[in-house]
This record gives sequence, structure tokens and C-alpha cells, in this order.
Amino acid sequence: MSLTDTYTLSNDTKIPALGYGTWQVTNPEEAIQGVVDAVNEGYRHIDTAQMYKNEEYIGQGIKKCGVPRNELFVTSKLNNTNHGYDKARQTILESLEKLDLDYLDLFLIHWPVVKDTDLDWQQDNIDTWRALEDLYDEGKLKAIGVSNFAVPHLKNIVENCRIKPMVNQIRLHPGVLQKDTVEMSHNENMIVEAWSPLSPLKHMKEDAKVQTMCTEYGKSIAQILLRWSLQHGYVTLTKSVHEERIKENADIFDFELSTEDMKYLDGLEFEDLDKPDDFEKR
Ligand SMILES: NC(=O)c1ccc[n+]([C@@H]2O[C@H](COP(=O)([O-])OP(=O)(O)OC[C@H]3O[C@@H](n4cnc5c(N)ncnc54)[C@H](OP(=O)(O)O)[C@@H]3O)[C@@H](O)[C@H]2O)c1
Repeated sequence: MSLTDTYTLSNDTKIPALGYGTWQVTNPEEAIQGVVDAVNEGYRHIDTAQMYKNEEYIGQGIKKCGVPRNELFVTSKLNNTNHGYDKARQTILESLEKLDLDYLDLFLIHWPVVKDTDLDWQQDNIDTWRALEDLYDEGKLKAIGVSNFAVPHLKNIVENCRIKPMVNQIRLHPGVLQKDTVEMSHNENMIVEAWSPLSPLKHMKEDAKVQTMCTEYGKSIAQILLRWSLQHGYVTLTKSVHEERIKENADIFDFELSTEDMKYLDGLEFEDLDKPDDFEKR
């Protein structure tokens, strides 16, 4: 496996297995330089969102990086404030303008439930999804999917919509396994993307077994976590605004965690790790 290896989505679109994340990167210079550094390092997959308020800068990074558009895979996501057919359609077109792109490789509904509203989430997701389906048909979105959708949300789309989501992007790392959601996503032919794979980093520093793994494999805890995610078959998204870490996080294709080490990491639990939000609270 290598940095440019891809999975194939249910509509035959290729998606690179490792993606460069851009959450919390709001400083324009950092956002632009981050994309340039990541692409120079060999990443070909960039993940942004309307909510991150950086699409404009990510677009500038894409222009500056020197790699042709058709060699990059760019994802954005719908803000919670932009649900509903008309608003979704309008703001997806605005995302394209901000990114200065003719199409997105993947577009996701960011969250299934909009916090603090009395919307019927089922109907709301169906209406919103229809906007993604139409823009997919028009070629503006090369693939469409969802994010943070648990089993009831996935069922609602699968049972009531014309096109099945091709991706479900959820929080996944040791301590947060979301087994039911992963299983249903796979059963419905979705590729699962893992966000915040490095969240347990600081909790694992004192773990003697993890320290032994670092020595044996000659890798950092961050690299062990990213490799764990890849070996589960997840498209793995990771973010850094530091060139040396961008490089370190991509240097995970020359080793393989043993079955025993994978099992150990699967079994880790962290008491004070914040868990994925219950959808009722969104
Ligand atoms: N769909 C969703 O709801 C959702 C939610 C969260 C994230 N995401 C996506 O998933 C991407 C990845 O998640 P994430 O941003 O939480 O990323 P992450 O890769 O899990 O963690 C990033 C954090 O770890 C630090 N870091 C990065 N590499 C490191 C290394 N080698 N050693 C030590 N620390 C390191 C970064 O700091 P520095 O930048 O200072 O290096 C940053 O604070 C996001 O950027 C976003 O695109 C999606």
C-alpha cells in the first residue's frame, strides 16, 4: 500500500486512502501552505467543509500546489445551517465558487441532525439529500455521501432515497469504534472515512505496550494510530499545519501492525475521552 493508493467507491470513483484534513485551520496562510505542503508530500486527497470557513484558502492552496486538478480528490461538506433542498443546492454551488472549482470529488451532509431546531430530521435529510443527488446527476459532485450518520440516519436515506450514499465519514480511533455504524455502512457499500484518528494520542503516551510498539516498529504513536485506521480499511483523514508532521503522518506505508497489536489497540478504552455526540444533541 502507498500514499497514492485508492479505494473504489460504489460508483467507480477512486478515493485516495489517506486524506489531508483542514478542520480548525482558519488562518489563510496556514491553510494555503498546509495544502501545498501536503500535496508536495504526496497527499492527493483534501478534506474541507463549509463549517471550517476555509474553502476559499483551500482553493487557493489547490491552485498553488502545481498538481493538476484531475489528480486531486477534494471533499467538502454541508453546514448544519444549510439543510433543506434549496439552501443545500445554493450553498453547494457557493462552495464551488469559494473553492474556485468546477466540481467536487465528494460532497457530504456534515451532520444528520441540526441542533436546537424542531425540524423533522428524517424529512429534512431526505430533502437535503435530494439536492446532493441532483448536483451529482449534473456532474457538479462526482460522488456524494454523509458524515456522522448513525444506523437510524443511514436507514432513513437508504430506504427513502434514489441514490445510496457512497461514503460515511465518522469519528473512529481506538476508544471510539462505532461498530454498528461501520457494519451498516459496509453492508450498504459505503466506504468509511475516519476523522480525528489522532484524538487518543496523549492518552496513549504512558501505555507501556504502545511504547514497545513504537520501539519495535520504529514509528511514533501518531503513525501507529494512522496505520491502525488504514489497516481497518478506513479512508483516514489527518491534519497538521506543520510540514514535519504532514511528512510524518504520510510515512506509514512501510510497516504493518501485527494482528495481536491491532487487537490490543481495538481494546483500548479511555475514560476521559469525549465520545461522539448523540445525534439528539446535534
Ligand atoms: N465530519 C466531521 O464531523 C469531522 C470532524 C472532525 C474532523 N473531520 C475531518 O477529519 C480531519 C482529521 O481530523 P482532525 O483534524 O481531528 O485530525 P487528527 O489528525 O486526528 O489530529 C489533528 C491534531 O493532532 C495534531 N497532530 C497532527 N499530526 C501530529 C503528529 N504527528 N504528532 C502529534 N500531533 C499531531 C495537530 O496539530 P498541528 O496541526 O499543530 O500539527 C492537530 O492538533 C479534519 O481535519 C477534518 O478534515 C471531520
